[in-house]
Amino acid sequence: MIEIEHLSKRFQTGGGFLKRPRAMLAVRDVSLTIAKGEVVGVVGESGCGKSTLARLVLRLLEPSSGRVVLDGTDLTSLTARDLRAARKRMAMVFQDPYSSLDPRYSVADVLTEPFTVQRRPLPPGQIAEMLTAVGLPTEMAASHPHQLSGGQRQRVGIARALALRPDFVVLDEPTASLDVSIQAQIIDLLASLRDQMGLTYLFISHDLGLVRYFCDRIVVMYLGAVVEILPTADAAPRHPYTRALIDSGFVPDPARRRAIAPLSGEIPSPFDLPPGCAFAGRCPRATDRCRAERPTLDDTTHPTACFHPL
Ligand SMILES: Nc1ncnc2c1ncn2[C@@H]1O[C@H](COP(=O)(O)OP(=O)(O)O)[C@@H](O)[C@H]1O
Ligand code: SF4
Ligand SMILES: [Mg+2]
Repeated sequence: MIEIEHLSKRFQTGGGFLKRPRAMLAVRDVSLTIAKGEVVGVVGESGCGKSTLARLVLRLLEPSSGRVVLDGTDLTSLTARDLRAARKRMAMVFQDPYSSLDPRYSVADVLTEPFTVQRRPLPPGQIAEMLTAVGLPTEMAASHPHQLSGGQRQRVGIARALALRPDFVVLDEPTASLDVSIQAQIIDLLASLRDQMGLTYLFISHDLGLVRYFCDRIVVMYLGAVVEILPTADAAPRHPYTRALIDSGFVPDPARRRAIAPLSGEIPSPFDLPPGCAFAGRCPRATDRCRAERPTLDDTTHPTACFHPL
């Protein structure tokens, strides 16, 4: 359904009076296919390029190179009008339901907006139907975001994303700002909506435990690049970075996670990546080859970018 081909995004910062401009690749040569009905997870630490990838896939951001193909149509080459038509098929749910909902709007306004943007009439009864579908009482249509709990706000965010009946949805850390118990309810809701509406998801999270629970296949990113694609949620990792993520992920208390995490060493600056493997400075298996040469994904059913996989 979706083919992501050699997608890269370069950001430039600085370039003022005293600062030299600096460039970095937030997303580096990412290729990935997503089949209809699949839930593909993307996992990696904060700053590794997950949100940039999400925005590139939906073409909310122009790629520096590469393309995204939706059912045979190259989204990167579409005119504004054709892109608007293609957009109806795609939607995004954001991490923070508070900042993504305008406080001046009522819930009904929020759910009407996608129709206004697409210049389509709002079908009668649609607001009530959408609220019911995400498990909210219909009276909530008149409420404003600040009157809702975090979980309720994210349900509104999900209803808004699904308003135009898309078939592909990018979920960018949809539960990261919620309590664990609420997190589970939102994941259950997303799973049942997927079944009912035949949705395909790209699910982004920094939490490998959550991704393993929810996703069919898992893409692991490190500093803008894909380092491993786990073919199933319970596949044993081949990349040392994924292994480290799993080892640190089973401690529920985030404050303790860092203390026992087997990762040591510094994450290199994305502006100044070393010539070899970007993980070499933190990797227990690193050799001279790793420091000199950059590994690429191997051509196996369990693609891994590592010279000495587990
Ligand atoms: N608009 C932008 N301009 C410059 N740098 C950006 C911009 N957006 C993101 N970045 C940088 O790109 C990298 C990846 O960011 P992001 O995709 O938000 O990561 P993640 O979602 O995994 O936390 C970060 O180093 C971030 O600072
Ligand atoms: S290529 Fe080398 S440094 Fe990079 S992850 Fe593999 S073993 Fe570690
Ligand atoms: Mg992000």
